[in-house]
Amino acid sequence: MLKDKKVVVGISGGIAAYKVCEVISRLFKAGAEVRVVLTDSAQRFITPLTVATLSRHAAYTDEDFWDSHQPRPVHIDLGEWSDLILLAPLTANTLAKVSLGLADTLLTNIILASNCPVLAVPAMNTDMWQQLSVQSNWRKLQKDERYHILSPNSGLLACDRRGKGRMSEPTEIIEAIESLIHSRGQEDLRNTKILISAGGTREHIDAVRFIGNPSSGKMGLAIAKAAAYRGAEITLVHAPIEARLLEDLPEMERFPVVSSAEMERSLLDQADQFDWIIMCAAVGDVRSKILHNNKLSKADLPESIELETIPDIAAQLGHKKRADQKLIGFAAQTGEITAPALAKLQRKNLDAIAANSIDLPDSGFGSETNQLVFIDKEGRQATIPMAPKLAIAHHLLDFIKQL
Ligand code: C5P
Repeated sequence: MLKDKKVVVGISGGIAAYKVCEVISRLFKAGAEVRVVLTDSAQRFITPLTVATLSRHAAYTDEDFWDSHQPRPVHIDLGEWSDLILLAPLTANTLAKVSLGLADTLLTNIILASNCPVLAVPAMNTDMWQQLSVQSNWRKLQKDERYHILSPNSGLLACDRRGKGRMSEPTEIIEAIESLIHSRGQEDLRNTKILISAGGTREHIDAVRFIGNPSSGKMGLAIAKAAAYRGAEITLVHAPIEARLLEDLPEMERFPVVSSAEMERSLLDQADQFDWIIMCAAVGDVRSKILHNNKLSKADLPESIELETIPDIAAQLGHKKRADQKLIGFAAQTGEITAPALAKLQRKNLDAIAANSIDLPDSGFGSETNQLVFIDKEGRQATIPMAPKLAIAHHLLDFIKQL
């Protein structure tokens, strides 16, 4: 998603500057062209040599701003060049300057001499963050459509305080950059309410044993993140997902469930409040007729389990949805994928279905990448070749928008 994209990374003087080195390295490895600008105080924390080595390009400081040998003002060159400007860490001082439109450093001049989206990622001590002046600058910045934000997280700070002020983690910053580059900074899903299901349900037999499937929830989470970065209001109903995958998500409402019955209740109860419903969860097809609340001893385990069919949630949603709602399903297939997916779309009254092979390498359950065929109810198809799940999620959202 970042190949040949031009990113200016503006670092101001905070200890979180060391974490931005990881972001620069990942941007370079993802194929982006990176130019790093350091304020004077940023250079007290990390050196121009560090960022020049990681970005494979000379670093920029205020000395370049005043350099009389430049053929063209460097702030104009970099401002016109950039597809996106990342401000990380954004200190209280640089935030104040940016919110006022001051231009007394190379970095603040580049911002004013450009029109691309800006991703603002602050980091500071909790008391500094909570000052009325800082909060008012932060709110002011958000009124400007150019600015996109990753608010600080809570946790242990380098000043030994526990509280709000930690900079977002590199993975979250990279995903936000990828999303902003894809949507060119347009929050094109603002005012769209989306209900997403994710993960694999567990149908318990007793307290510890269950019938399940290998869904990791990564595809559903990628859709939730991509849509949130594009301004949508997200509600995520998810079966058990590894805790680390749920860290540092953009703002969204979450309903954790375990069984298909819990997922069914949660989804059917709230479905009518949403514009789009995306059924990405791998919901079980069968469950044990009898549920034992305790753990059965080995000696008590039955020799066979009588199963019952699980009601299809997507089909129920499909038959009660309003004409203005869009319902999207997934079809995980082995072998031929499009014909069975189309049959599911019709049976469940979906508006579109995303069909994916689970027998290809690096696709489907648990993988970081995927490849899909989107099919709508008119039979139109779009094939999305192998890509990271966040990129696939953005293409899926583009496809749903056109329905
Ligand atoms: O029929 P199949 O399970 O392959 O269909 C997959 C689609 O149906 C997915 O969108 C899945 O979330 C949904 N589904 C459901 N309820 C079930 C089984 C599947 O909503 N009991």
